[in-house]
Amino acid sequence: MSEIIKIENLEKKFGDNLVLKDINMSVDEGEVVTIIGSSGSGKSTLLRCINLLEEPSGGKILYRGANILEPKYDRRHFRSRVGMVFQNFNLFANKTVLENCILGQIKVLGKSKKEAEERSRRHLESVNMQNYVNAKPSQISGGQKQRVAIARALCMDPDVLLFDEPTSALDPETVGEVLDVMRKLAKSGMTMIVVTHEMDFARDVSTRVLFMNQGIILEDGSPKEIFTNPKHDRTREFLSRFLEK
Ligand SMILES: Nc1ncnc2c1ncn2[C@@H]1O[C@H](COP(=O)(O)OP(=O)(O)OP(=O)(O)O)[C@@H](O)[C@H]1O
Ligand SMILES: [Mg+2]
Repeated sequence: MSEIIKIENLEKKFGDNLVLKDINMSVDEGEVVTIIGSSGSGKSTLLRCINLLEEPSGGKILYRGANILEPKYDRRHFRSRVGMVFQNFNLFANKTVLENCILGQIKVLGKSKKEAEERSRRHLESVNMQNYVNAKPSQISGGQKQRVAIARALCMDPDVLLFDEPTSALDPETVGEVLDVMRKLAKSGMTMIVVTHEMDFARDVSTRVLFMNQGIILEDGSPKEIFTNPKHDRTREFLSRFLEK
């Protein structure tokens, strides 16, 4: 399996606050890596550094072997290859579902309107939102919005998809429909990095689980290793809060 992303000694400071300390991790093609950990441990900051929404303070992020933090690296190219799905959907409120999917394809990828529309309809169908193409985000449920956000990300034909707590803002009854779409995507071979509190998803779908604690990756292992035989008491304690429920 080829390595898509490799992170070496990554650091991120906000002022004097070192929130990511010496992060090392790698993601192979087709892997589903979930990142778990308490609030404030740095999970979102790590994802935001990976897609350059935040500028790392030190270290390397290698994308297919090239360090994207080098001044000469074409960041636009990298950004167009990495998709992101946010907790709060980040759909354009004044655009329809279809327009949300079309826009980036025309603006960033330079596709024709016809091609962009065809692709949008195909991906909206894959998340079962084909009947809502003309709806505005305010007219659909949270789960539906998140499925549109996933379709929109897929329309950009990403090499890797990042998810930051994609189900945390949803009503409990719509969480399942979003997780189902993500499971299907994982099965199709999409490379995914998923920050989540959905421990069943982490255990059943991911190829690897990273446990973050206070700005470091405390554990990195298979779901089986992390969930049944964690190396650190801190991991055990974190998991017990979820698994007792
Ligand atoms: N833009 C920012 N400016 C200053 N500090 C920040 C900023 N973004 C995050 N932080 C700090 O970095 C630390 C890590 O935050 P981060 O949002 O990455 O945690 P998290 O693991 O995603 O938490 P949660 O589970 O609550 O989403 C926190 O102490 C937070 O206050
Ligand atoms: Mg977060």
